[in-house]
Amino acid sequence: MITPDRNAVLAALEAILDPRSQRGLVSAGLVQGLTVGPDRAGFMLEVAAADAQLYAPVREAAERALITVPGVRKAQVVLTAEGEPSVAPGAVRVRRGAQLSQAAQSDTAPPAARAANAPLNPAHVKQIIAVSSAKGGVGKSTVAVNLACAFVQLGYRTGILDADVYGPSIPRMLGSDAEPATNSDKKLIPIEAHGLKAMSIGFIVDEGAPMIWRGPMASSAVNQLINDVTWGTAQTPLDLLIIDMPPGTGDIQLTLAQRVALAGAVIVSTPQEIALIDVRRGVAMFEKTATPILGVIENMAYFADPTTGAPIPIFGRGGAKATAEAIGAPFLGEAPIDMALRQACDDGAPLVAVQPDHPASQRFIAMAALIAQSLKGDDARPAPSISFD
Ligand SMILES: Nc1ncnc2c1ncn2[C@@H]1O[C@H](COP(=O)(O)OP(=O)(O)OP(=O)(O)O)[C@@H](O)[C@H]1O
Ligand SMILES: [Mg+2]
Repeated sequence: MITPDRNAVLAALEAILDPRSQRGLVSAGLVQGLTVGPDRAGFMLEVAAADAQLYAPVREAAERALITVPGVRKAQVVLTAEGEPSVAPGAVRVRRGAQLSQAAQSDTAPPAARAANAPLNPAHVKQIIAVSSAKGGVGKSTVAVNLACAFVQLGYRTGILDADVYGPSIPRMLGSDAEPATNSDKKLIPIEAHGLKAMSIGFIVDEGAPMIWRGPMASSAVNQLINDVTWGTAQTPLDLLIIDMPPGTGDIQLTLAQRVALAGAVIVSTPQEIALIDVRRGVAMFEKTATPILGVIENMAYFADPTTGAPIPIFGRGGAKATAEAIGAPFLGEAPIDMALRQACDDGAPLVAVQPDHPASQRFIAMAALIAQSLKGDDARPAPSISFD
């Protein structure tokens, strides 16, 4: 592998004219977040939303120019449009061939996508569940992936969407860095791993690429990752799409809660009080959009003593259950602190998929069964509306 010369990369980009200022791309300040690594180079071409179409050929030219630089085998130019979400044609262009199509406000946009607050539910997906927590690092992604695998064990056609465009973790947890292909409609074909259909910005933008989306751009990227993907077909619809939410209650979470007709949300918490304060905050966000809380999961609930098996409540225990009761939501169960669970995710082979009989896996399967029960007969909920006060 050869690392290309940064100056050569800059020179190649400077040779391309910015159609607005008639200056080279570098002098025009359009080369943002340049990354030059072994065999590759890439950057963000950040333009005003109204200019996205104008710059689509510039992005292509920039990619072609990068490929000519010695040492560059993979060129990646991400065209990002500042402004309202879903307004820029070709807003996210990424590894090799994949281009997330962008529809809203273009003449070819389907009418539903033009309305600013149109629901974002993809075709042929029966129900969508968000796995959420207001606090980071409580094990949302671990829970989301293992729950998704648990639904596969229960016979559901299941997909997982990584809504964390800043720190995607699903590709690593599923052990896949495949690049999604596109079909004739320019829709992305999800990656298949461990019986799941999966989509993540991490499959598209190289790991280590700068994720410097502004709020609206990030929401726009997530919208495309949900909608411009062939999750299912009319004959074989996806039964369930699990969304691994990013931490917090920011733009992306609000957009999703507001515009996706979620069948419900599963809240993940650790037992500590500090995490529980966040749970209440997270729940309040879903309440605003009238999204049902399907239940609360206490993750890292205890550590089983290696010799006796007795539970050691490292972070305390039972707090999530009490919170679930306080907010009137079902308590779905506990997931222990378990090295096998962590190791399996780090190895890219979720425990529930590879060892479904493991006691920790059994807990996830039991929790999935509880969720499935509360979902029965609820696949036609309309998209909620949101009001801010
Ligand atoms: N029950 C568990 N037992 C052991 N390790 C766990 C458990 N749950 C999560 N972890 C580990 O804790 C770390 C954080 O988990 P994870 O990435 O799933 O959290 P997250 O809430 O998705 O984080 P973020 O907020 O950054 O998205 C990971 O290293 C994961 O392997
Ligand atoms: Mg996560």
